Amino acid sequence: MVVRLLDAASTAQAHLGASSEAAASGVYDLLHRATRPYEAEARLLEALIIERCPGATSLLDVACGTGEHLRHLADSFEVTGIDASAAMLRVATTKLTTVPLHVADMRTFSLRRPFDAITCLFSSVGYLPDVTGLRLAVSNMADHLTPGGVLVIEPWLHQDAWSADDTFAESVTEAGRSVSRILTVSVRDDFSVLSMHYTVSDGGPVREFDEIHHLRLFSIDDHVDAIQAAGLVVEHEPVGLSGRGIFIGRQRS
Ligand SMILES: C[S@@+](CC[C@H](N)C(=O)[O-])C[C@H]1O[C@@H](n2cnc3c(N)ncnc32)[C@H](O)[C@@H]1O
Repeated sequence: MVVRLLDAASTAQAHLGASSEAAASGVYDLLHRATRPYEAEARLLEALIIERCPGATSLLDVACGTGEHLRHLADSFEVTGIDASAAMLRVATTKLTTVPLHVADMRTFSLRRPFDAITCLFSSVGYLPDVTGLRLAVSNMADHLTPGGVLVIEPWLHQDAWSADDTFAESVTEAGRSVSRILTVSVRDDFSVLSMHYTVSDGGPVREFDEIHHLRLFSIDDHVDAIQAAGLVVEHEPVGLSGRGIFIGRQRS
């Protein structure tokens, strides 16, 4: 098994999903702000949305997590967020005091209003367990788009990303707090299983906790088919924001 330090610029880095403990303790934000340039990503998103939908003014971030992209997207759009995790949204609320944030599942949410742009970033669709779930989520997002509106999905990695189990380690120290994470990835059929061990020190006793995340390894065609089945015109950018690529869907005008 290979152990290596995660490089901030690495495009193959593994990542967190929803964890009450990591979210509430600020560990999610500390680790991800160190490796994910949220503001630069928001500027890229704005550019690609405006290029395709020049009059776009409203944006919904699906699976917005702790609201790091929304914080910056709010400079250019009237923003809204949804996420399945109340713990993640509680953190988002502290940063986005005037932004509507809803606890909801991406497959079933209903906001009863459309948006010019919808984003679903940082591989959040990987938490959907099957192709039926992916199709439901994409169709629901498409139903919330205005005519000519743009959907941007950043997928999880595809099955050929790992040929064997792998282990990564990373650590961040900021303002008297140190966080280390060891992450082991194994592939089981169509799923990646991410086992994470955290060590957190705020100067006092060291605290440790564990998480296991199961992320579905959808294929490129799974995403393209789901976006086309939702009636959108699809583009696939293989690099995207972080090396995982992005899928862009456009609602017909
Ligand atoms: C890796 S985090 C990404 C969060 C945020 N987009 C970011 O860039 O930091 C994945 C997020 O997906 C959310 N999530 C997972 N399954 C979901 C579902 N079915 N509906 C809505 N949100 C979901 C989790 O709660 C978590 O906040």
